[in-house]
Amino acid sequence: MVFQAKTIIEPFRIKSVEPIHETTAEYRDIALKEAGYNPFMLKAEDVLIDLLTDSGTGALSEQQWGAMLQGDESYAGSRSFLKLQDTIQKITGFQFVIPTHQGRASERILFTTVCEQDSIIPNNTHFDTTRANIEANRAEALDLAIDEAKHPAVIHPFKGNMDLQKLEQFFRNTPKSKIPLCMVTVTNNSGGGQPVSMGNIKAISAMCHSYGVPFFIDACRFAENAWFIKQREEGYKDKTPLQIAQEMFSYADGCTMSAKKDGMANIGGFIALNDGALAEKLRNLLILTEGFPTYGGLAGYDMEAIAVGLMEALDEDYLRYRIRSVEYLGEKLTQANIPIIQPTGGHAVYIDAGAFLSHIPQSQYPAQALCVEMYLAAGIRAVEIGSVMFGKPQPDGSEIPAALELVRLAFPRRVYTQSHVDYLIEALLYVADRAKQIRGVRFTYQAPMLRHFTAQFALI
Ligand code: F0G
Repeated sequence: MVFQAKTIIEPFRIKSVEPIHETTAEYRDIALKEAGYNPFMLKAEDVLIDLLTDSGTGALSEQQWGAMLQGDESYAGSRSFLKLQDTIQKITGFQFVIPTHQGRASERILFTTVCEQDSIIPNNTHFDTTRANIEANRAEALDLAIDEAKHPAVIHPFKGNMDLQKLEQFFRNTPKSKIPLCMVTVTNNSGGGQPVSMGNIKAISAMCHSYGVPFFIDACRFAENAWFIKQREEGYKDKTPLQIAQEMFSYADGCTMSAKKDGMANIGGFIALNDGALAEKLRNLLILTEGFPTYGGLAGYDMEAIAVGLMEALDEDYLRYRIRSVEYLGEKLTQANIPIIQPTGGHAVYIDAGAFLSHIPQSQYPAQALCVEMYLAAGIRAVEIGSVMFGKPQPDGSEIPAALELVRLAFPRRVYTQSHVDYLIEALLYVADRAKQIRGVRFTYQAPMLRHFTAQFALI
């Protein structure tokens, strides 16, 4: 008999550690009050388990640190750029590679170049920086996710898919001159970290090309998406994540990327594409604000870290461990009747705080209240994705609430172990036990734009 373990272990051992500190409930009470009940305002040191984001918060591998020592900091023609370019070409097949300092810089450069006033860019769901960079160019960001994506409890293997009928209808009714490109975000972060199927990507591509519209992928979590395709889509179980990623990109004309996610780096991003004339325009804008085209706002050592990280993100043992730890947390919360977006996504568990704290009206921000409670109870930091982030204040002082009140627990890559996840589960069960006592919050300060970052609250 061959030993077959049921436990999926962290596929690494730890060589360099960063201490984290427990705090007392009294200490957290004061810290959060001083932070205006906004976890963004906390000192990171006062947080025990930080699930604010999976962006730029991952652990580097020894191979990445080793490569970083070989960073070539030449202003032009850096060897580190050539290495990064090779890796990106190998994974994506795109000919032209433009490095940027992070995802939103890629978005700004791309959309500033292709958008005109009244342009419309469809996507499954635009991430907020993507939407903001489109709207900053006075163009429209159109979300066309499948209907299942709007219902947290509905289970669908590829809940990040785009609605092909709606896309076709949009193409049919909109002059081509208004659609500079079509995008799909893998995985769909704003929709719960849900994957997009290869079939869907292929169909979007075919439709775009039949209408003469370029097709771009927001590739932030391309490796996690490839893993879901391998697990869930017929015909892919014997393919490697790299082969699957290569096929995904083969249907597209280009991509934007934040290397802070599946680039496994602390900073960085890129645009990659096949259209040489467009690449030249993008590079000209890049030089203006990011830097010369062979570093684009990055240090040579950053490009080294990304070149290694992109391949490490495609490692099967790593992906199995990563997706399973998120799924494990989701399973335990579901068993405890804590409602989450089903099924669990790749990088995060999204608690449906609207359903969980149904005694708190949307006007009292149940998802923010849950973030507050998780920190007070157990030193956990998560992010509100509800009406604090997306509510639309009206001139009469009222507010149009967000469609969903979610709390996202996003997992940094290679940072936390199973016992951290077990701690989270215990803490959330404790919070669930006293859910009915949790009070809502009200604003005491809000900025006119992107208010969630700096808002101050009081408990009701
Ligand atoms: N696209 C997606 C799908 C993202 O999730 C993000 C960032 C970006 C673009 C922008 O990239 O941060 O490098 O400028 N998401 C982070 C998050 C911030 O917490 O989900 P960036």
